[in-house]
Amino acid sequence: MLLHIFSSVLFIAQAIALPQPANTSVNPNAITNTTCTAPGVTLNSHNINVAILGICGGIAGKIEQCQGAPTTTSGASGDARFNLQVETPGTTIIVTKGRWEGCVRAARAVCGDSPFSSTCIGGANDNKDNVLFQLVKQ
Ligand SMILES: *[C@@H]1O[C@H](CO)[C@@H](O)[C@H](O)[C@H]1NC(C)=O
Ligand SMILES: *[C@@H]1O[C@H](CO)[C@@H](O)[C@H](O)[C@H]1NC(C)=O
Repeated sequence: MLLHIFSSVLFIAQAIALPQPANTSVNPNAITNTTCTAPGVTLNSHNINVAILGICGGIAGKIEQCQGAPTTTSGASGDARFNLQVETPGTTIIVTKGRWEGCVRAARAVCGDSPFSSTCIGGANDNKDNVLFQLVKQ
C-alpha cells in the first residue's frame, strides 16, 4: 500500500513537471557588431519576450528551430518587433531557438529593452554564416 502511494505520488510529480527553467546565462561572444539604435526608447519587456518567439512564423512551445528556411523573418508583439536577415546572400535562416534566445540575451545585456542592431553568430548555412537582427519600436 505504502509503495503504491509512493509510486502514485512519483507518477503525479512527473506528470506535472514544469518545463525547463529559462536559460538566463549571457555569452557576449554569441553576437558581434551591436549598436543600441535608440537608447532613449524603452520597449515593453513582455512584448519583447513574445516577439522573440514570433520569428519564422512562430517558434513557441515544442518548436526548437526556425521553420521554412527564410532569408528574412520578423516577430512582433505590441511595441516590439524583431527583424532578421541573413548576412550572406544565398544562405537561409535555420537558427535554433536556443541560439536565437542566446543572441537576444547577449544584445539585451548591452542595450537593455531599447532598440538595437546586432549580428547573431551562426544561425545560417549550418551555422557557418550569421544572421543580422534588429529590435525596433513599431
Ligand atoms: C555593423 O553594423 C552596421 C550597421 O548595421 C553595418 O553597416 C556594418 O557593415 C557592420 N559591420 C560589420 C563588420 O559587420
Ligand atoms: C544557455 O545559454 C548559454 C549562452 O547563450 C549557452 O552557451 C548554453 O549552451 C545554454 N544552455 C542551455 C542548457 O541551453
